[in-house]
Amino acid sequence: MSQQQMVEEIKGWVYEAGENIKRKLQSPLIVEEKTNKSDLVTNVDKETEAFFIDKIRHHYPDDQILGEEGLGDHVTDFSGRVWIIDPIDGTLNFVKQQDNFCTMLAVYEEGIGQMAFIYEVMRDELLWGGKGMGVYLNEQVIKDVPNITLEKGLISVNTHMFLNNTYETQTVAMKSIGVRMIGCAGIGFKELIKGNQNAYISNLQPWDYAPAKVLMEELGLKMIALNGEPLDLRQKVPILGATPAAFAEIQTRQN
Ligand code: IPD
Ligand code: CA
Ligand code: CA
Ligand code: CA
Repeated sequence: MSQQQMVEEIKGWVYEAGENIKRKLQSPLIVEEKTNKSDLVTNVDKETEAFFIDKIRHHYPDDQILGEEGLGDHVTDFSGRVWIIDPIDGTLNFVKQQDNFCTMLAVYEEGIGQMAFIYEVMRDELLWGGKGMGVYLNEQVIKDVPNITLEKGLISVNTHMFLNNTYETQTVAMKSIGVRMIGCAGIGFKELIKGNQNAYISNLQPWDYAPAKVLMEELGLKMIALNGEPLDLRQKVPILGATPAAFAEIQTRQN
């Protein structure tokens, strides 16, 4: 199967997952706390992860799967093909707003991102693409993301990092034209890729940033761990995603 055929197949799964999620929002959600009152999981998070795993196991039985809700494999070794799933990104928004969430999936091979899908379900916006194949918003190709400077654009940041001024997030944010805290990593990165903001800063798990990393690399956008370590798909890390111009300015301010 070609990369293009595989992408089309996965897009079908993502749209189907989106339809299922919308339908399930018509019934009461079963909500559980994970580590604290802001860290929630619902039946839809688990069912969506199970849906993707079922498809992957059926079509690609030899592959490894890393899913946020733990229904996949315990992946420690990223050799071979690994699927990374965030079934509902922005679960708190999903529960409290029934809006501002995504379903996300990435395919990596030998630790290198090959294809990625960030679907903002309620807006029917699918950002997708892959290594060497370009990046698309629905059917529209994305070319030349505007290289917005820190001073000229909106910046999106994680609430806790902003309130605690982690990595001088407040200082950086105050140099921008305005700050947004959407509470969904997928949307944070999506707005950057769409050219609507200059950077996104957050403390993220691999499933939060792996899809955006594939798409951003393809578009020449920047993503690094703010702790100076190389990005490691096994760990939670403070992430900076930015246009090249904003990236250079933020890096300079922090050194
Ligand atoms: C969360 C969201 C949020 C980010 C958190 C993530 P989840 O993902 O992306 O924006 O600030 O760090 O955990 O748990 O809703 O998939
Ligand atoms: Ca979660
Ligand atoms: Ca997430
Ligand atoms: Ca999630």
